Amino acid sequence: MIRIEGLHHQIAGAEVLRGIDLTLPEGGVTALIGPNGAGKSTLLSLIARLIRVQRGRIEIGGHVVGQTRDRDLARVVAVLAQGAHVSARLRVAELVGFGRYPWHLGRPGAADHAAVDAALERFDLTGLRHRFLDELSGGQRQRAFVAMAFAQDTPYLLLDEPLNNLDIAAARDLMTLVRGLADEAGRTVVIVLHDINYATAFADRLVVLKQGQVVAQGAPGEVVSAPLLADVFGTAARVEQIDGRPVVLV
Ligand SMILES: Nc1ncnc2c1ncn2[C@@H]1O[C@H](COP(=O)(O)OP(=O)(O)OP(=O)(O)O)[C@@H](O)[C@H]1O
Ligand SMILES: [Mg+2]
Repeated sequence: MIRIEGLHHQIAGAEVLRGIDLTLPEGGVTALIGPNGAGKSTLLSLIARLIRVQRGRIEIGGHVVGQTRDRDLARVVAVLAQGAHVSARLRVAELVGFGRYPWHLGRPGAADHAAVDAALERFDLTGLRHRFLDELSGGQRQRAFVAMAFAQDTPYLLLDEPLNNLDIAAARDLMTLVRGLADEAGRTVVIVLHDINYATAFADRLVVLKQGQVVAQGAPGEVVSAPLLADVFGTAARVEQIDGRPVVLV
C-alpha cells in the first residue's frame, strides 16, 4: 500500500503540491493524470525519494520515506523518471543490469544475471541485448528502461510517461507489458499517462491531479467524464461509452 498524508511541496517558493491525501492499495495499475505542471512528476519523485519530503508523510510497503535507508527503499520501489536519460553508449543488457544494483551493491552474482535475462526476455529485448541504446528505436529504448525498473525486483514500480513519443503499436505493446507486471508478476504500478484513453483502457484506478491537488480518483468509468475534462483540462472534449468504458473523442 502507498499511503500519503498531508503532503505539501514547494519549489522556489511556489506551492506545487497542496495537501495530498491519497491511499493506493497493493496490486494493480494506477494511472496518474492531469495537465502539464499539475505536480504529477513531483508526486512520483517524492514517493520514490528522488526529492526530499518537506511536509507530510509518505509510506510505501510499510516503509516511511525519509526514515528508511536508501538501500532498503531501493528494494521496495523502482522508478522510471520522466525523460530518463543515460549514456547512449550503454548496451541494453548493461542498462537493465543497473536495476540490480540495490541487490548486489556492485558485485553482480548468478541471481542478478538471471534476473537481467528474465527482464530482457519479458520485454522482448533478448535479441537486442548487445545493442547500444542509440541503436534502438524510441519504443525499444522505452521498453529497455521499463525492463531496468522491472529488473530491480521491487513490489512497487513508478513510471513517469513511459509512452512518450511511442507510436500506437509500441504504446499498446508497452501498456500490455505493464499490465502484465501487475497481473502476472504481482507488482503495484503507478504510471503517469497523458493519453486518457490509455489510462481508461489499461488502468484499474485513476488519480487526477490539478494544480497540486487530487481532484478525482476511482475506477476509470467513475472518473472520466466531459465535465471533469472541462474542469481539469479546460477543454470541451466529448466522452462516449464504448465497450463499457469511457473513451475521449478529440
Ligand atoms: N526544478 C524546478 N524548478 C522550478 N519549478 C519546478 C521545478 N520542477 C517542477 N517545477 C514546477 O512545479 C510544478 C509541477 O511540476 P511537475 O513536473 O510535477 O508537473 P507534471 O504534472 O509532471 O507536468 P508534466 O505533465 O508537464 O510533466 C510546475 O509548475 C513546474 O513548473
Ligand atoms: Mg511530469
